[in-house]
Amino acid sequence: MEQQQPKVYDIPDDYKQNALITENRYHDMYREATEQNDVFWAKQAEIIHWFKKWDKVSEVDYHKANIKWYIGGKTNVAYNCLDRHVMSSKKNQAALIWEGDDPHDSKTYTYLQLHREVSRFANVLKKFGVKKGDRVIIYLPMIPELAISCLAIARIGAVHSVVFGGFSAEALKSRILDCDPKVVITSDGGFRGGKVVPLKKNCDAALEGTNVKTCIVVKRTHDTVPLTTPRDHWWHTETNSADIRNECPAEQVDAEDPLFILYTSGSTGKPKGVLHTTGGYLVYASMTHRYVFDYKDGDTYWCTADIGWITGHSYILYGPLANGATTVMFEGVPNYPDYGRFWDVIDKHQVNIFYTAPTAIRAIAKEGDEHVNKRSLTSLRLLGSVGEPINPEAWEWYHKTVGKGKCPIVDTFWQTETGGILITPLPGATPLKPGSATRPFFGIQPAVLDPTTGKELEGEAKGVLCMKASWPGQMRTVFGDHDRFFQTYFSQYKGYYFTGDGCIRDKDGYYWITGRVDDVINVSGHRIGTAEVESAIVLHKNVAEAAVIGINHKIKGQAIYAFVTLNTGITPSEDLKKEIVQCIRTEIGPIASPDAIQWAPALPKTRSGKIMRRILRKIADFQENEIGDTSTLADPSVVDDLIKNRIKDA
Ligand code: PRX
Repeated sequence: MEQQQPKVYDIPDDYKQNALITENRYHDMYREATEQNDVFWAKQAEIIHWFKKWDKVSEVDYHKANIKWYIGGKTNVAYNCLDRHVMSSKKNQAALIWEGDDPHDSKTYTYLQLHREVSRFANVLKKFGVKKGDRVIIYLPMIPELAISCLAIARIGAVHSVVFGGFSAEALKSRILDCDPKVVITSDGGFRGGKVVPLKKNCDAALEGTNVKTCIVVKRTHDTVPLTTPRDHWWHTETNSADIRNECPAEQVDAEDPLFILYTSGSTGKPKGVLHTTGGYLVYASMTHRYVFDYKDGDTYWCTADIGWITGHSYILYGPLANGATTVMFEGVPNYPDYGRFWDVIDKHQVNIFYTAPTAIRAIAKEGDEHVNKRSLTSLRLLGSVGEPINPEAWEWYHKTVGKGKCPIVDTFWQTETGGILITPLPGATPLKPGSATRPFFGIQPAVLDPTTGKELEGEAKGVLCMKASWPGQMRTVFGDHDRFFQTYFSQYKGYYFTGDGCIRDKDGYYWITGRVDDVINVSGHRIGTAEVESAIVLHKNVAEAAVIGINHKIKGQAIYAFVTLNTGITPSEDLKKEIVQCIRTEIGPIASPDAIQWAPALPKTRSGKIMRRILRKIADFQENEIGDTSTLADPSVVDDLIKNRIKDA
């Protein structure tokens, strides 16, 4: 198709010999998973412990958005991640290595120690009345208490919803109102790149006017924060007074009982509560973690994501811990104290498998090679990438400079909704093409559809990416709104799950994800809905209307560009721009700040009043030659004004 002939990197010899999945085995297992789906997934489910075996492997109807796996099975995620290993020779192995923002700050928990902390905190939650099925919101920095909280909640069969610490009070509040948690867990503050983030202050603002009766506060920064009685309780006071000998048993929950809710942006309206359940999710997270990262006992594995995102859920916590791995959790940022921080952490903990995002790779690469070359990195065996398409230049740099040309890169395509990785190389089975997520994982049946006709395309093709079959890690519903689940993912192309991404399938059957085809912007791997940002901008009293689009950005992948129309009589000014940015930071958080705001006397609209974002994208990306026909616009002359005044250095 439109691809140039990309360079192909063959499987390194040692991977051909020692990998869990070799090329032939990949094809055999892929065929088996496709032809005998339930048989395959029944076999794979043995990867976790079941208190009671399932009665039926799956029940899936994409026409009604009904998805169930391992029906009737009973298990517990925390039991699988902890108790199993405590009863094995792994009990004194490191489960979690926590690396603080400050390079002198790190702490290791063995499986036994982590089990104890989780059990103890689970008892604290019970004391505050948290029961099976109750929701608990976690608004914490990347500290061990975040992992302990998730596992403790799972242990008693409650449902966690982690809200990324970079989200604002308003964003936190909207999530609290949506899922009605019994308890909120936060900290006095958090450290990021040497700076303090005021989490408790945000949490206090978010809790005002809600039904939440209990807030548990971890002491992290030791800044003075007010405790509201009787609502707020210190984590350390509660856990210290809990009897350590009084173990909290793991609740036997149903395979389809909810495990967590994670809010994510879509093309319209407020973020959706993506709901994942227990059995299928855990099978899929642990299985993908094992095979994609070729995980073997003794490996030290590090995923740099924040647990506020799905990557952290599946590939810092649940996948690695279910496999009994040593997982590294990092509180800081890639450029503090300097751009060599990732490499210091790899050397310090002798990391073997390293999984990060293209935006981080590009930000570090632009600082030159010396930060990398000053470190050894000999422990590395495998590299991974996630969150957005990785451009071939960044891929090559990652491969050559970080991986010294020896470490395969697994470019893993997946989504909050998918629970785990869908399209990815397997290091012992897949020759690599920089920029391609390559081939589907076992049981994943991608389809490339023509966006207009909805027809499935065969062979080499370009279109929208859908999935024909379900897999155990797939989300089950939008919390509290099953119809929205159906409308968002299953209504466009009947009988398919629609990812929202465009893609190309090349002659070798490799997939190249080309990015979102809906109104979702991917800024540094974070999904931001244009509608959310627009709603935040129009909250400003002087703003009449706003349209937000994504533009290409060298480091972030995409950046936010906003066209703003002011009320009649209002004079544009730099101060007004600052106020608008502040509105966005208050409503959503700093991650949604636009790189550019352009004043637009009017926006290009169809005669029925629909904003033509396609035209705005071309204007902001300096592609006015490709704008095409503007005759359907209500007022074609607005385009010229926008071209004349567009912002050049966004
Ligand atoms: O557009 C795709 C992009 O990220 C979106 C999913 O975002 P989120 O739910 O926040 O999950 C991110 C981490 C799994 C997808 O719809 N995306 C994710 N990974 C890749 C990617 N695009 C291209 N290549 C990838 N490897």
